[in-house]
Amino acid sequence: MKKVLILNSSARKHNSKSRKLTEVFTEHWKNIHNDLINYRDLGESHVPHINENWIAAAFKPEALRSLQEIEALKTSDEYITELREADVIVIGAPMYNWSIPSTLKAYIDQVLRVNETWKLNPENMQNPYIGLLQNKTVFLLLSRGAQGYEKGEYNEHMNFQSNYLKTVFNIIGITNIHTVTINGESFDPEKYQQSIHDSHQMIKTLIEKELN
Ligand SMILES: Cc1cc2nc3c(=O)[nH]c(=O)nc-3n(C[C@H](O)[C@H](O)[C@H](O)COP(=O)(O)O)c2cc1C
Repeated sequence: MKKVLILNSSARKHNSKSRKLTEVFTEHWKNIHNDLINYRDLGESHVPHINENWIAAAFKPEALRSLQEIEALKTSDEYITELREADVIVIGAPMYNWSIPSTLKAYIDQVLRVNETWKLNPENMQNPYIGLLQNKTVFLLLSRGAQGYEKGEYNEHMNFQSNYLKTVFNIIGITNIHTVTINGESFDPEKYQQSIHDSHQMIKTLIEKELN
């Protein structure tokens, strides 16, 4: 029995392509597995930004935290517990201004926490991060208006979406990452329809591989 956590981050509720990808994921996953699926909608809910109290609290031992500091970490604790419990984490994310929605960034700031999801190895300056979340799989289900963002393509240098998300999940210890992307909403309609079709197919193939 695997636990799945689905995080949506599009600000659009209607006609969102990344939400459609997480829906395709859910339907196909449920067809094969009767697992527990948890949802968190970052696009709709308020994700608090980290603040002065949060930072002071996160970087000191638990026993030394004031009541105010403990309170400041409450949302972070809740998100991290949910992440720890999940075997499979599915992120639906549009590209906004060559990066990710600010709600998803605020979420990442809440869950990238020293001694909780990563720790520092001062002996290795080149790669000082040790990820503390293990044996998890991430599905990045992404949508973009333009195209050419993949490795070696003309917009690769402007891709702060998938490259960033992969880096962040690697740092917290998750290296089994599948990425499915819809490209080109704003351009060639025929290619775009093909991209949607291919992405739905790819999700199904990846789920089958993951569950075998
Ligand atoms: C505020 C905003 C910023 C966007 N910025 C980019 C961008 O930098 N690059 C790009 O390729 N598409 C960009 N797009 C297009 C979206 O990535 C595309 O419409 C995507 O399908 C949105 O995801 P959704 O359908 O799940 O809402 C932007 C869209 C919006 C609304």
